[in-house]
Amino acid sequence: MILVTGGAGFIGSNFILDWIAGEQTPVVNLDKLTYAGNLENLAALQGDPRHVFVQGDICDGELVGRLLREHKPRAIVHFAAESHVDRSIHGPADFIETNINGTFRLLEEARAYWQALPQAEQAGFRFLHVSTDEVYGSLGPNDAPFSETTPYAPNSPYSASKAASDHLVRAYHHTYGLPVLTTNCSNNYGAYQFPEKLIPLIILNALNGKPLPIYGDGLNVRDWLYVGDHCTAIREVLKQGRLGETYNVGGWNEKTNLDVVYTVCAILDELRPAADGRPYASLITYVKDRPGHDRRYAIDARKIERELGWKPAETFETGMRKTVRWYLEHQDWVRNVTSGEYREWVGRNYGER
Ligand code: NAD
Ligand code: DAU
Repeated sequence: MILVTGGAGFIGSNFILDWIAGEQTPVVNLDKLTYAGNLENLAALQGDPRHVFVQGDICDGELVGRLLREHKPRAIVHFAAESHVDRSIHGPADFIETNINGTFRLLEEARAYWQALPQAEQAGFRFLHVSTDEVYGSLGPNDAPFSETTPYAPNSPYSASKAASDHLVRAYHHTYGLPVLTTNCSNNYGAYQFPEKLIPLIILNALNGKPLPIYGDGLNVRDWLYVGDHCTAIREVLKQGRLGETYNVGGWNEKTNLDVVYTVCAILDELRPAADGRPYASLITYVKDRPGHDRRYAIDARKIERELGWKPAETFETGMRKTVRWYLEHQDWVRNVTSGEYREWVGRNYGER
């Protein structure tokens, strides 16, 4: 049994689906079901006793403590977070609450649980914290990619809250000996990603003939990793990672936002040409930039490859094709997701740009 937090979100749900298919061992999934949590992502596990869903908040220490004592997990894999940079700019409070206080509560309960375990089980227990490359700040065009020793320099309320959580995780290892592992990963894409993030937003806007909003000059650079590859990296770190270490996870795929958007448009032109015959890229529209927009992220993923033998299986081209196809083939999922809270967010974020 493992305890996953945030397992109804984008990466968490992909992780649980892969985990149950691969490891065959049960998962307790603690998720608050915020706007970003969607149990439809886990519909394939309906009625499967290996997936135990609990709706609840990681800030609720009593609940977390009870779940740990009841289910006795051998590991906690911690995904739960507020994850969208633009939302953190409009309203940072939830980010401080979940990402910092929530991680602190979880660590406190994990510590109490772990300290009470018999010695043999203590040795096998793991707390894996899923974090981001954004904690390292922004790179210039000729800077070396982020390594595990790059100093932290977060620039948005989101990345600052994730940086704070990383520091707490580190401190619980150094001070209390809690067996922790941290991963810092680049931008994920793939199935079940909420369409507030660049790639699904562009796919859905294009299919609906809406403008494709590009922040600033579109030349900001991100490293892109297919979500399935992130999930295998997390599994490897959980299995073989050295305690107290951090592992950078990336796809060796640095792209400008314009490159990404043109790639999505070209795949759509081929798979689902627009009714009016115009290329989807003709919908590209430049809008006001994100405040404090980090210019470039890049990941040096050599440590995880050297120590754990992990490398991404998908290239950007194969992963993007899979992703676009998935959105084309899951229009029911898209309809259900876009019918609610997401609509209000679109007005707030793009209305004045
Ligand atoms: P997401 O926003 O899609 O999902 C977050 C999940 O956490 C949702 O299911 C939500 O309901 C749940 N949640 C939020 N607050 C909670 C709380 N207080 N208690 C319990 N559950 C709560 O996020 P994601 O993109 O799947 O990201 C997952 C993790 O991976 C985050 O920690 C994020 O920082 C990290 N990460 C994401 C990316 C990326 O590109 N998406 C890259 C690197 C790291
Ligand atoms: O780097 C890892 C991070 O990647 C994760 O920690 C975050 O949880 C995840 O949301 C993601 O952050 P980004 O800010 O990089 O992702 P987003 O999809 O919001 O934006 C990607 C890039 O595209 C960024 O440079 C901003 C730009 N963008 C985004 C949107 C939504 C646009 O140009 N237009 C848009 O409409």
